[in-house]
Amino acid sequence: MIPMVNLKAQYADIQDEILGGFAETLDNCAFILGPNVQAFEKEAAQYLGVKHAIGCASGTDALHLALLAAGIGRGDEVITSAFTFIATAEAIKYVGATPVFVDIDPATFNITPENILNAITPKTKAVMPVHLFGQPADLPAIKAICDRHGLKLIEDCAQSFGATVNNQQTGSFGHAAGFSFFPSKNLGCFGDGGLVTTHCDETAAKIRQYRNHGSDVRYYHDVVGYNSRLDELQAVVLRAKLKRIDQYNAARRHAAHLYSELMADLPLTTPYEDGVGVHVYHQYTLLCERRDEVMKALQDRQIACAVYYPVPLHQQNVFKDECAGLSLPVTESVAARCFSLPICANLSDETVKQIVGVIRGVFQ
Ligand SMILES: Cc1ncc(COP(=O)(O)O)c(C=O)c1O
Repeated sequence: MIPMVNLKAQYADIQDEILGGFAETLDNCAFILGPNVQAFEKEAAQYLGVKHAIGCASGTDALHLALLAAGIGRGDEVITSAFTFIATAEAIKYVGATPVFVDIDPATFNITPENILNAITPKTKAVMPVHLFGQPADLPAIKAICDRHGLKLIEDCAQSFGATVNNQQTGSFGHAAGFSFFPSKNLGCFGDGGLVTTHCDETAAKIRQYRNHGSDVRYYHDVVGYNSRLDELQAVVLRAKLKRIDQYNAARRHAAHLYSELMADLPLTTPYEDGVGVHVYHQYTLLCERRDEVMKALQDRQIACAVYYPVPLHQQNVFKDECAGLSLPVTESVAARCFSLPICANLSDETVKQIVGVIRGVFQ
């Protein structure tokens, strides 16, 4: 079986370092907001080029806390994508705001500056672009719109750890950003974990409070907060992987480029790179009119493949009433034709060639 992500192979390379860190943590029993969480927050802030990085329990929580600290709430509108994982919109709903879904670019699968501009109303308070599949959204243009219209830019970086635009990290452009460390992410831990980044001291202080029961000083509570701390053992894993993230992302890019080169002559649309943003290929996602046939051929040969995402958010049961009548033609067309192939930091050239061989067979 060829999995979407080979986490076992990645673990084998760093096992000693992780088990050593676990043993130390079990020994000192500093399980909650201990030395590894504190060190990881500093190391991640430095890597990402932000003033503050605050660990929390998941990527969903990271987005929720970022919106909360930015003061987004009831009656506010947040412009975002419908072609994303549900958590993007859930976070907006958690603070009582309304997600306003706009259409995507057919090449990058990200929301476009033009569509964002057209969706701004007096209620719009924030824009939440998703750097989908590791491809950065058009951040310079989106940031310019946010600055001009007094909107908060809150990036969903769940899939984009290490992706850059003009050599600047995603997650460092806006008011705040949320990252996910779900195991299969480019930087993944061994369970759930997340991170909020911001340059703003006040926002960082609020997020630190919110993630820890509304408290700065133990047993003194200023606001109703949450139990959303990054786990100390997960921070051990993340510190080991953060040191290697550039190598992991380079390996993903290498595999992606080999896929694209080997499939250049096939009737498929391979991923687009604009040359400005550096795509870190959280997913390697293609468009194909004969998606079902290709996926069946892969599955028949024990090669994993998946559709991210088959139903855009405006058509999901949870949103279909509030989005009645909304048409997002590019999103809908992409969702009907997209599928993703295995990609990770441990995918060999041989395996890429084997997978392409199976796909080629469908078109012969
Ligand atoms: C685009 C996007 N946003 C948010 C999330 C939520 O992250 P988590 O699963 O860590 O809560 C995910 C991932 O699962 C995601 O892919």
